[in-house]
Amino acid sequence: MEQKINDIKNQILKAISKVRDNGELFDLEKKFLGRKSEFVSILKNLKDLAPEDRKKIGELANKTKGEILEIIKNKKQEIDAGNQDFDKEKIDVTIPGKKRGVGHLNPISIVRREIEDIFTSMGFEIADGPEVETEFYNFDSLNIPKSHPARDMQDTFFIKDTDLAMRSQTSAIQARYMQKHKPPFKVIAPGRCFRNEATDTTHDHTFHQFEALVVGDNINIGNLKHVAEVFFSQFFHQDIKIRLRPSYFPFVEPGFEYDISCTMCAGVGCSACKGNGWLELGGAGMVNQNVFVAAGYPRNKFTGFAWGIGLERLAMMKYKIDDVRLFHSGDLRFIRQF
Ligand code: FA5
Repeated sequence: MEQKINDIKNQILKAISKVRDNGELFDLEKKFLGRKSEFVSILKNLKDLAPEDRKKIGELANKTKGEILEIIKNKKQEIDAGNQDFDKEKIDVTIPGKKRGVGHLNPISIVRREIEDIFTSMGFEIADGPEVETEFYNFDSLNIPKSHPARDMQDTFFIKDTDLAMRSQTSAIQARYMQKHKPPFKVIAPGRCFRNEATDTTHDHTFHQFEALVVGDNINIGNLKHVAEVFFSQFFHQDIKIRLRPSYFPFVEPGFEYDISCTMCAGVGCSACKGNGWLELGGAGMVNQNVFVAAGYPRNKFTGFAWGIGLERLAMMKYKIDDVRLFHSGDLRFIRQF
């Protein structure tokens, strides 16, 4: 009988190490200590034993039962502690997600993408060039030789002891593109420009321009006006008229300043256009033949138009921004509005 009780205890010790949850523990307890278990039948039959055996076996059975209950209790604690860890790790898929901060595009990037979309839809290519530029492309190729007074029209950052400068205008991309491509072509060249100027609400040392350049046979001022009107009308989502005024840029002949009909009053006259119905925008003209020659084309074989405009100026008009310096301020209160 003693042997039997010890066997039962050993069986429980062996079985309990395999128990993984409270369900299995309950089954195990029922199997070894339940009403129909061998252990309980031993206890029930104690009365049939000789009195000296009854005492001895009875004490052993009770002691063993206590030990088994203790083992079960410990196992239960172990399982419950594991469950608590599990509860902590459990993922509640119904909890709303944490919102991640999403960055905002600078309005210059927004405007640049819009411009590129409009021009590519008209069949234009997009060209690029370096921001640190040689004096040849920034000046000489644009009909601005050394010692020409036009070199002082823009306050350029020159790089000491080199023939390099920070690109002061996207016109610098013209000859670069023409050296690699033969007419006819239509291209725009957006990019960053730098000028050694005192900054104010409309001038920054770093800003963006884009150049439009169309070259072929018989390209004329009418084409320039038409392309400009189509572009500005799409960009401002309203009918825009163009006005050309004679002006001087060494790389175009004839050269113009161009105005667009006021986007606020449609040309009627308001405070934005100082009552005259027009807004000044940038420079344009028919490509000077000297520029074609510098790019390697024969003189008088092609004609073309070019224009340049500040992206900041366009973004300021579109979003009613009153200080150009905000674009590079890094001020999140500004950027978050776009
Ligand atoms: C030019 O840069 C000529 N390359 C434009 C051109 C191209 C004329 C092709 C003819 C043919 P201008 O210096 O005016 O021109 O600059 C053109 C535009 O760039 C200005 O109207 C303005 O919108 C912008 N811009 C010029 N300087 C600054 C500045 N410091 N800060 C912000 N925008 C500027």
